[in-house]
Amino acid sequence: MTIETVDRGESTADYTAGVVDSFRDTSDERTKAILQAVTRHLHALVREVSPTISEWEAAIDFLTRTGQACTQVRQEFILLSDVLGVSMLVETINGTDTPDATNSTVLGPFHMVQSPPRVLGDDLSPESEGTTCVVHGTIVSPTGNPVPGAEIDVWQANGNGFYDVQQPGVQTVGNGRGLFTADERGGFTFRTVVPSFYPIPTDGPVGELLNAARRHPNRPAHIHFIVRAPGYDDLTTHIFVAGSPYIESDAVFAVRTSLIKHFVENADPIAAARFGVVSPFIDACFDIVLQPARPAVTAGDATTTVRP
Ligand code: BEZ
Ligand code: FE
Repeated sequence: MTIETVDRGESTADYTAGVVDSFRDTSDERTKAILQAVTRHLHALVREVSPTISEWEAAIDFLTRTGQACTQVRQEFILLSDVLGVSMLVETINGTDTPDATNSTVLGPFHMVQSPPRVLGDDLSPESEGTTCVVHGTIVSPTGNPVPGAEIDVWQANGNGFYDVQQPGVQTVGNGRGLFTADERGGFTFRTVVPSFYPIPTDGPVGELLNAARRHPNRPAHIHFIVRAPGYDDLTTHIFVAGSPYIESDAVFAVRTSLIKHFVENADPIAAARFGVVSPFIDACFDIVLQPARPAVTAGDATTTVRP
């Protein structure tokens, strides 16, 4: 295949076929399939958009600056994948999406430090001002068996919409985070503040993109969870505060209806005493169903997991 064959007519398809074929000897079958698919889809994109040379240079400059914006505490490429809806697509393809298990959603870029171990009932956000709330639930299997000892990693923004790592000198790293162990009935409880909605970082190339598209950068109020237990798939998810601004237009497309929870006022003084808070308080229940681990299968050189 020579470059002379490329024109705007039918031979561009032959040209693409030649580039796809150039990967035929890739030793790993999965890598070969991915490289060939990338080639086909990129070529189709370029044919559809027909960029000028300066537009193509601008695209390369955008991606270059996206890479340059990445640091130890900032991952601009993940953010780009998030706002393009790709992170959520990958999550949906790989997540615990059986009707019986709790839905997963994106990890996001703020799970970047170790959550401090805390005991059940502890305050997750001792340095955060805001409305006190208690989050509790039970972790079970799809048949309703409790999962005692499950590990629950939780992280959230404060009542002003900032994570600890975004406010050095204001919040200590670990505020808004906690690593809990479910009790013998699979139960968990923690105190915290009702989180606020917040904007994803907009001072980099992803912010430029959102601005150019006149898209807002906000995420509805949420609390992140990773739940792990032997014999079950890890679950990465959030709960969303029902009625939060942006619940219908999350900047990263991560809201799932099943994960929207009502944070309701609870005026029961006995419940307040049990949770160690002043009555009335805000009460949110999140019962979690874990997906039993599925057997790993080997496809080509890659090991993957059977999905329904
Ligand atoms: C987050 O929820 O922490 C998040 C997710 C995606 C992009 C930015 C932030
Ligand atoms: Fe978040």
